[in-house]
Amino acid sequence: MSETLPSSLALELARVTEAGAIAAARWLGRGDKNAADKAAVDAMRDALESCPISGVVVIGEGEKDEAPMLYIGEEVGAGGPAVDIAVDPLEGTTLTAKGQPNALSTFAIAPRGTMFNPGPAVYMEKMAGGPAIADLLDLDRPIEDLLGAIAERRGCAVRDLGVVVLDRDRHMEMIGRMREAGARVRLIPDGDVAGSLMPIRAGTGIDLLWGVGGTPEGVLSAAAIRSVGGRIIGRLWPRTDEERAAIVAAGLDVERVLDTDDLVASQDALFAATGVSDGDLVHGVRFGAAQVETQTIVLRGQDRAQRVIGSTLDVEASVRRIPGSGY
Ligand code: FBP
Repeated sequence: MSETLPSSLALELARVTEAGAIAAARWLGRGDKNAADKAAVDAMRDALESCPISGVVVIGEGEKDEAPMLYIGEEVGAGGPAVDIAVDPLEGTTLTAKGQPNALSTFAIAPRGTMFNPGPAVYMEKMAGGPAIADLLDLDRPIEDLLGAIAERRGCAVRDLGVVVLDRDRHMEMIGRMREAGARVRLIPDGDVAGSLMPIRAGTGIDLLWGVGGTPEGVLSAAAIRSVGGRIIGRLWPRTDEERAAIVAAGLDVERVLDTDDLVASQDALFAATGVSDGDLVHGVRFGAAQVETQTIVLRGQDRAQRVIGSTLDVEASVRRIPGSGY
């Protein structure tokens, strides 16, 4: 049994995502998603070197050959508790390039051996909801029935419900059915980590996330939801027969519904996300001549604490040393 992750690590995680967000935000609205992503990876990798953990990247930038940094299997950190790492230095590369809301720099840890490794599975069908409707989530129940059950549980009508869905052609049939049932569907261009957290956080007007999105983003979202309650379920979603065969060959089950604790098998998780652009959960990076302001949401499973940390960072004393900060 591993020891409890100390609460002081929450601030260390925030420091790492702040660095990623600051570097990425320099590219906000500049039409170059690869440059934004690279800036976030470089900055986060640098910040991780002094982070007091002994981490192994389980969700990262891809295979070692294609990703020089934060690749899956890479060991990072300055030494400390043995943890699995899920990292997406820039969740929402296109959002950033286009200057759109809800781009985040994200990072999660959980005790070593507790994070789901999706192997070759790129996509997952996901459904997420808050604690009050957690037991109702079901990928196989007709969406009309599910929405009715959620409305009943909430003591409202289906027309009062908000559902967030990635705006993709593959979702059009379901979106039509949700609308037909009366639900208000919010289509997001990208960023289903933020989308997964909307039904968990109060005041977003969203009750449910549904849709097919990235598997890595699903694990990151599970780390966040594991930390504060609510539920995310998912089922791997191969695009082709070849992909299905590769997933099966990796020992994964494409039929199985993965629950939150299959994705992150410990409640002792920590999750941090700093806003790159303004969004539903946090605001984006604000650059000044002498100071930079960031906002970070930090979730800790041990005590189910949700913190939103606003940081004012002195350019000379701290920001200038972040690679890609632009100072
Ligand atoms: P990027 O940060 O790589 O741009 O991904 C953003 C994202 O929208 C995720 O939030 C989501 O899980 C995934 O892409 C959906 O993939 P696709 O754009 O291929 O439908």
